[in-house]
Order: sequence, then structure tokens, then C-alpha cells
Amino acid sequence: MDYLEITGGKKLSGSISIGGAKNAALPVIAAAILSDQPTEIENLPNVVDIRTLLRLLDILGAKVEHEGNSVRIDAGSIRSTRAVYEIVSQMRASILVLGPLLTRFGECEVSLPGGCAIGQRPIDLHLKALEAMGAKIEIKGGYVHAVAPEGGLQGAKVIFDKISVGATENTLMAAAMAHGVTEIINAAREPEIVQLCEMLQAGGVTIEGIGTGRLSVHGSGGAPLHYNKPISIIPDRIEEGTYLCAGAITYSTVTLERINPEHLQSTIDKLETMGCHCDVQGDRVTLFPPNGRLKEVHIVTAEYPGFPTDMQAQFMAVATIASNESLIEERLFENRFMHVSELNRLGADIWLKGNVAAVRPVDQLYGADVMATDLRASSALVLAALAAEGTTRVRRIYHLDRGYEDLQGKLAALGADIQRKKSQA
Ligand code: UD1
Repeated sequence: MDYLEITGGKKLSGSISIGGAKNAALPVIAAAILSDQPTEIENLPNVVDIRTLLRLLDILGAKVEHEGNSVRIDAGSIRSTRAVYEIVSQMRASILVLGPLLTRFGECEVSLPGGCAIGQRPIDLHLKALEAMGAKIEIKGGYVHAVAPEGGLQGAKVIFDKISVGATENTLMAAAMAHGVTEIINAAREPEIVQLCEMLQAGGVTIEGIGTGRLSVHGSGGAPLHYNKPISIIPDRIEEGTYLCAGAITYSTVTLERINPEHLQSTIDKLETMGCHCDVQGDRVTLFPPNGRLKEVHIVTAEYPGFPTDMQAQFMAVATIASNESLIEERLFENRFMHVSELNRLGADIWLKGNVAAVRPVDQLYGADVMATDLRASSALVLAALAAEGTTRVRRIYHLDRGYEDLQGKLAALGADIQRKKSQA
């Protein structure tokens, strides 16, 4: 198994380019199922989660031509509507094929994804929305078996009692080929949702309220969608935030190119609270570190446009060496603090009470062996290692490979001492 060996204390400098957002690309790939003609996608991040979903489409019978950062998916040749456990258990987001398979083919079976390191993560909201549209759903043998009513799914009023990114995406895709109008109330408003809405619109579906919590989708009435132009994936705001945190924790000036500053606002605000300055020029941002020590930060994770849970671990790493105690409250996932004990192994002083972490300041972190537990927790450990004195080995980096394209290459380009190695065990 590969691990990362990082010797901390190096100043970073220079600029790197940001790739496409994994979390935007996954629903875009799933939405290719809504077409019986080829869909072209560009600026795709070359990461494991993307390859996993493409493999699932391939198993379903779609023709997938994937090269580097582009893919051409022809879902006209799909013959199977069973999303198998072997793939879905590797990646929860595979549940995103449920809505499109059901609405296009009238029936499908999708393995239940199960839990994951950051919490229970049920799919009840996804299922309730499809049921509101007339689907009959049964859970059998670990699979969700969904059947649409005769003639196809029917537009409905879907009211979410909790905001869910994935459930909003599944409902949007199901509604795109349904009969009549589907209203989604309390929808997620993430930029990734906006990208999906724009794709569906380009495919011929009218959607009102894009970017708001109330969406109205005028379904195509069973007609497959046609995406005539390639879809270019939006920049990854979590990758952007992670590299800005790399600049902050090493007190370095770093520049990121090909960003969307609008999507980065809550991250920039928190970095500025900590004493950094972010200079945005078009699609570039340069982070300047504070003159003195980093200041403390108080964070409560929330749905977009609030502070993203996917940036919580990285900010916790930065906060470990701030001048005062920081408080970080996780509101979205009940178990998303797996990085705390590993950060403490590097010399941090973090205390947990329920869903709040108190990050007490330390003067210095020290290199050690640590274990990655989930995607964003892994990047927090890498960030801490960049600031730590001595050498850190971050193990189980397959979590990182799921969502960061060439993390070690990009950090090395900024001057970090980071190498990917193979362990004998
Ligand atoms: C997506 C992102 C993930 C991010 C999360 C929150 C992708 C591929 N992943 O995950 O990186 O951390 O949004 O911004 O885009 N919930 C239910 N019932 C459901 C669905 C969700 O109770 O049916 C709960 C979850 O357990 C969680 C909350 O709703 O507490 C938000 O989850 P959700 O927005 O659905 O996250 P994902 O779409 O899985």
C-alpha cells in the first residue's frame, strides 16, 4: 500500500492549477444515463471515485471512452439496470444512478450503500422523493428495488425535511424525464447542484429557481435528454480550499489558478479571520499569510452557502498552530472527527465534546506515523505534516486518491518535501 512521506517546515511558493470538482462530476456522469446519445464531459478530475462511477456505467452497458480529463459516455447501449454491490459498496455516491435509471427505464435495482467512516448516511430522503413521484420501492437482499408507475414517474411536490445534496440530485434527475412538473422544496443550493441543473437545461428540461432552495422541474415526459455540447466540470472548491490551507499552515504565499472565487467565499472569510489575506483577480486567488501568528477561528459547518463540512478537517489542522483556542462544530455528519486523534499524534491539543472540537493552540507540531480515515481527514493530516517538524508518514492514502488528483505532485510543485512511497507490508 502506498503512503506519503512528508518532511515539514518548508515554505511553499508559486502557483498551481485547480481541477474539476469530483462532487460536480459524479452527478454529471449519472445524468448521462438520461440520454440515449453520447454525452461529452470535460475538465473531469482524474481520481478514483470518478473511475469507479464510470466502471459502474460500463457494467450497465454504456460505452465509456475515458481519456485523461475527458470522457464520452454513450448510455444508448445500457442493457442492465442493476447497480451491483461490488461497486456501490466502494463509493456511496453510486446511489446517484438510482433516479436516472428509474426514470429512463421504469425499473432498477441499486445496492444499498451502507454506512461509512463519517457517519450513518441514510438514503431515506432519496427514496421518499421517488415514492412521491409514484415509484414503488422495496428493499430486498441489500438492494433498493424501484419500479415506476405505468407510463413513467409523475411530477410531484417533494418537500425535504433536511437539506441533502445527493437526494436533491437524485430527485432532479428523476424529475427531468418524469411527466409534469416536480417542485423540490428545501433543495440543496451547492454549486454542484447548479451545474447539474444547467446540464439538464442544456439537455432540454426547463428548471426554475436554479441556485435557490425551491426548484421546479418541467419533465420531458419520458423523452431522453440530448446534450449537444460538451459539459465542462466546475472548479473544485474543496481542492481550492485545501491548497489555501496549505499556504496558511506553512505561512506561505501561494496562488491558485482556474478557480471560481464565488464558490470559495466562506473559506476565504475564515482564512481572513485567521489573519491571512486572499487577493482574488478574476479566476486566480493568492493567499498571503499573516505577518504575525495565525489567529483562532470559530466554525460551524452548514449547507451551502455556509461553511462546507468538506473543509472542516483542513481548518482544524490549520487551527492547531493558531495563537488562541478555536472552536469547530460539525453539524452535518455525526462522526466526522476521525482526524482528531491522528492530529493529536502530531502534537496537536484537540478536545472533543459531542460534535464540538476545542482546538487548543500548540507552538509546534511534530512528525509521526498517522493513518488516514476518510477523504478530507487525509488531507488534514497532509496539511499538518507540512507544518510539522520532522517527517510524517501518512498511511492509507487510498482515501486521498478517491478525491484529489495528484495531490503530492501539486504540493511538490509548490515546494513541499513530499514523496509517495510503497510500504513492504
Ligand atoms: C455530499 C458530498 C459530500 C459532502 C456532503 C455535505 C458528494 C458526492 N458528496 O454528500 O462530500 O460532505 O454532500 O455537503 O457530492 N441525509 C439523510 N437522509 C438522506 C440523505 C442524507 O438523513 O436520505 C443526511 C446525511 O446523513 C447528512 C446530511 O443529510 O447528515 C447531509 O448529507 P447529504 O447532503 O445527502 O450528503 P451527500 O450527498 O451524501
